[in-house]
Amino acid sequence: MDEVTIRAGRPGDARSIARLDVETWRATYAGILAGPFLVGLSAQRREIGWATVIDREPRDVRVAVNEEGLILGFGSCGRCRGEPEFAGEVFTLYVAPDWQNQGIGRRLLLALFERLVAQGCGSAIIWVLRDNPGRFFYQRLGGREVQRKLFAVGGKKVEASGYAWRDLPSFLAEKADADRPPEP
Ligand SMILES: CC(C)(COP(=O)(O)OP(=O)(O)OC[C@H]1O[C@@H](n2cnc3c(N)ncnc32)[C@H](O)[C@@H]1OP(=O)(O)O)[C@@H](O)C(=O)NCCC(=O)NCCS
Repeated sequence: MDEVTIRAGRPGDARSIARLDVETWRATYAGILAGPFLVGLSAQRREIGWATVIDREPRDVRVAVNEEGLILGFGSCGRCRGEPEFAGEVFTLYVAPDWQNQGIGRRLLLALFERLVAQGCGSAIIWVLRDNPGRFFYQRLGGREVQRKLFAVGGKKVEASGYAWRDLPSFLAEKADADRPPEP
């Protein structure tokens, strides 16, 4: 397999992220969100949004790239917008369909958690649609479902689950221990 690197966002990434964003939304939410809404998603509009996010704080964006610099997955995080109980939030996390189940999502999520801890956020929440099987990934990575709420997305009301990590520094330390190769 190609060497995959996780790095912070760069201004030149906005277009590639936006294209992958639209592609992964269509693949992930077909049958969950309204068809016309998914068809109408615009990579050009999303590019403007991503350029703004990267411009504001490139370290809040993490991308997975292969040796050729192709973006295979991306995620973003920041201070939590809605729940005072949690300091940080992961806003997005998507891996290109051909690159899923190869450990990239896990590496991106841990990189986003490290960024949140570096910002002083000791806990985090992630909202994921209940009909999206991707939510089991968060369970696998130690998230606990703490809340449910309805979101309006593309003219449809959909139920989402909030998965939380209450102690990110301990979680990251445990992961680092588990990943350390055994002593010779
Ligand atoms: C969900 C997603 C980010 C996971 O990334 P990924 O690179 O495919 O996952 P990884 O290979 O890093 O998987 C890490 C672990 O989670 C498990 N896992 C991954 N997806 C899973 C799923 N849908 N259900 C259950 N377990 C899952 C893997 O088997 C692996 O387990 P292991 O530790 O036993 O090896 C990715 O599949 C994706 O982008 N999906 C579509 C978009 C999406 O749902 N994004 C989240 C919306 S908020």
